[in-house]
Amino acid sequence: MNTNRLSKTLTAALNAQMTKEAHASQIYLAYAAWASSQGFGGVSNFLFRHAQEERNHMMKILEYILKRGAEVHVTAIPAPPENPANINSCFEKVFAHEVDNTESVYKLVKMSLEEEDWATWSFMQWFVKEQVEEETLALELMDKIKVAGGEKIGPDALYLLDKDMETTSGEVKSALEVTAVNP
Ligand code: FEO
Repeated sequence: MNTNRLSKTLTAALNAQMTKEAHASQIYLAYAAWASSQGFGGVSNFLFRHAQEERNHMMKILEYILKRGAEVHVTAIPAPPENPANINSCFEKVFAHEVDNTESVYKLVKMSLEEEDWATWSFMQWFVKEQVEEETLALELMDKIKVAGGEKIGPDALYLLDKDMETTSGEVKSALEVTAVNP
C-alpha cells in the first residue's frame, strides 16, 4: 500500500526548500562570524540568533516531508556568498536573500495549488506569513542604517547601532495585530 501522500514534484521542491533554509542559516552564520571579526558584537549576536531561526525553518520542512510519508534527502549545503564589505551592504544582502527565499516559497504555494495538495498549501501558508515578517525585519535593519547615515555612517552612529542590535528582537509585529490604538 502506498502511504506516500506527496507527489514526486512536491517532494523534490520541498527537499530543495529544506536545503535553501539550511543555506540561509549558513549565510547568517557566515555574516555573524564576519560581523564579530569586525568588532560588531551586537550585529553578530542578532545574526547568530537568526541563523538558529533558519535552522528551525529547515526542521519544520523536514518534519513535514516525513509526516506525509515521503523521503527526506539531506544534501550538501551550498557555501554562503562572500562576506559583505560593510554593515550597510550586510543588511542589503540580508534583505535580498529574504526576497529570494520568499519567491521560492511562493513557487511551492503555486505548485501545491496546481496539484490541489491542500495539506501542503496549508502548510506553506505559515512560511508565506513568516516571509512577510522576515522581509519586514530586514527592511527595518535597512531603515536603521539609513537613519544613521547609510553608507556614510560615522563611528559614533555605528557604535550605537551595534549596541542596539544586541537587544533587537528577531520577531516583528504582524500587520494583523495592529489596531488604531495600538499601531
Ligand atoms: Fe527561512 Fe529567512 O527565511
